[in-house]
Amino acid sequence: MSNYAIILAAGKGTRMKSDLPKVLHKVSGITMLEHVFRAVSALNPEKTVTIIGHKAELVREVLSGKSSFALQTEQLGTGHAVMMAEEELARLAGQTLVIAGDTPLITGESLKNLIDFHVNHKNVATILTATADDPFGYGRIIRNQHGEVTKIVEQKDATEFEQQVKEINTGTYVFDNKRLFEALKNINTNNAQGEYYLTDVISIFRENGEKVGAYVLRDFNESLGVNDRVALATAESVMRNRINKAHMVNGVSFQNPEATYIEVDVVIEPDVVIEANVTLKGQTKIGSESFLTNGTCIVDSNIGQRVVVTNSTIKESTVADGVTVGPYAHIRPESVLAENVHIGNFVEVKGSTIGENSKAGHLTYIGNAEVGTEVNFGAGTILANYDGKNKFKTTIGDNVFVGSNSTIIAPLTIGNRAVTAAGSTVTKDVPEDSIAIGRGRQENKDGYAKHFPYHPSKR
Ligand code: UD1
Ligand code: CA
Repeated sequence: MSNYAIILAAGKGTRMKSDLPKVLHKVSGITMLEHVFRAVSALNPEKTVTIIGHKAELVREVLSGKSSFALQTEQLGTGHAVMMAEEELARLAGQTLVIAGDTPLITGESLKNLIDFHVNHKNVATILTATADDPFGYGRIIRNQHGEVTKIVEQKDATEFEQQVKEINTGTYVFDNKRLFEALKNINTNNAQGEYYLTDVISIFRENGEKVGAYVLRDFNESLGVNDRVALATAESVMRNRINKAHMVNGVSFQNPEATYIEVDVVIEPDVVIEANVTLKGQTKIGSESFLTNGTCIVDSNIGQRVVVTNSTIKESTVADGVTVGPYAHIRPESVLAENVHIGNFVEVKGSTIGENSKAGHLTYIGNAEVGTEVNFGAGTILANYDGKNKFKTTIGDNVFVGSNSTIIAPLTIGNRAVTAAGSTVTKDVPEDSIAIGRGRQENKDGYAKHFPYHPSKR
């Protein structure tokens, strides 16, 4: 039978105290909605309908092209939200997963187990539940003396006795699709919040003598519903542990996994060693045997094998095998460092390609440059690429020796094996095998230092 899915994402998330719709807050680098969507994708649903409302266009963007959307113009409750999918789904035979967009920790595996359980038990509705130490705020699962689920009661509607129940509704369910939309016609707003509760369909099914069940999650953490920033931080911490553990299982060493921040899509090969306080974001890949020290932050970059990054920042760049970066280096977007390049302390590279074995050891700025192989940049070199309005390119050939404190004023080209003398301001192209000297000539005044007030003879 076919699977369908409905993701509830129309709410504002008042308790977040945010301008951003709740489901767009991120956990380990991607929105909560995207986490939920990825879990749902494990079921290969024939159709997925996301219910949007508050700031609908912003929410739509996240899943555009991946999901259909139904607009809930007024947020009258989770039951009302599901009704918005009626037009798209109500006539179809099959089962429908309904999931809240604010439960980012639920896994695809648990959703598969839930569906299997639902199908095997021939239920009309199956609730994904969990046992909470502190169930406050969640809907409670009420069972009769035979242990059968009879209804779900919301926190605000629960009697004192019902509030003792520790089994909670995760906000995820599987329903017989047609029966779901039929039952929704019978819910009302007679409750503490004056909302159409989706959870009310459970007692409606029971009253009809239909079979309702619950599949209990083993790990309560998965069920976490994020309603405020405290829960958001908890979700982040659970997700971090999950991500880091998966990398460890794959052969990555962590000095302190609690203090290492790796977003969901980062790929790390075996035998990488990562010290504490390292952040890896976005679409980043780290090749095997690389070593990332304390304080390193890498964003959307492809890092090769045996690369050493010491307390440095790399963004939207490609770093080949054997490169060393840092300490305190900044590799800015669209830079390409070829094999065995060495970028040392206080060096900034931006939008530049640097050829194999080239080195910039200290205090250098390389911007908009194409640099050959085996080039050496002396300390304090600046490629002056910007006139306040436009950026200009510098081309440096192979085996060039750039003397310390050279200021190279782009646009220009320095030929292979050329040298710039230390302290030169280079304003013209330098031909191959030539030396450019662009500095005042030194003159020595013999004995003059003795007249200088600081001279030892004056003290
Ligand atoms: C809901 C459940 C509760 C469960 C909890 C799990 C109901 C009545 N209660 O409560 O039993 O324990 O989730 O986390 O369903 N939404 C809409 N339109 C609306 C209202 C909500 O799209 O009109 C969306 C929200 O954006 C959110 C999700 O539905 O993604 C859940 O809504 P929320 O208000 O957080 O429900 P809870 O009070 O947490
Ligand atoms: Ca919630």
